[in-house]
Amino acid sequence: MKITVIQGPNLNMLGTREQHIYGTMKLEEIHAQMKDVAAQNDMEIEFFQSNLEGELVDKIQECFGDTNGIIINPAAYTHTSIAIRDAIAAVSLPTIEVHISNLYRREEFRQKSLISPVCASTLIGFGPFGYHLAMIGMLQLFSEIEAMKEAEKSAQQ
Ligand code: DQA
Repeated sequence: MKITVIQGPNLNMLGTREQHIYGTMKLEEIHAQMKDVAAQNDMEIEFFQSNLEGELVDKIQECFGDTNGIIINPAAYTHTSIAIRDAIAAVSLPTIEVHISNLYRREEFRQKSLISPVCASTLIGFGPFGYHLAMIGMLQLFSEIEAMKEAEKSAQQ
């Protein structure tokens, strides 16, 4: 099983960027922790970050047939990108949206996500720990999907 982690614009600057909002952890440190969780659970994991909307859309499309689940923080594109939303809907993979900050305690323009309606779940405001929670959530989704497949198989027998 494979998980693909997709990070949107400016998340490459975590650790230095607006520390009072996003904390001091660097993206590489967050990814190292996720890698440990993946290894402990025998999962493959891939990381991708881009500041460009089209590259994020391309990466989501590449996930089709290549990965079992997506963890995504679309960053500012959360609030604007129909293209990213459509790409997630198109590949139809279990997808978890993560936001480091609590969007509902911030500016009004951040309080609308175009992405949430096409995701299985959204984790908001846990800081970098949200990515760890997303890993646990994804493992849970995988086991629910497996259980459903098993139930369908035994119903057919
Ligand atoms: C963010 C919240 C977005 O509004 C913002 O544009 C980001 C990061 C978060 O993780 O809290 O870049 O997605």
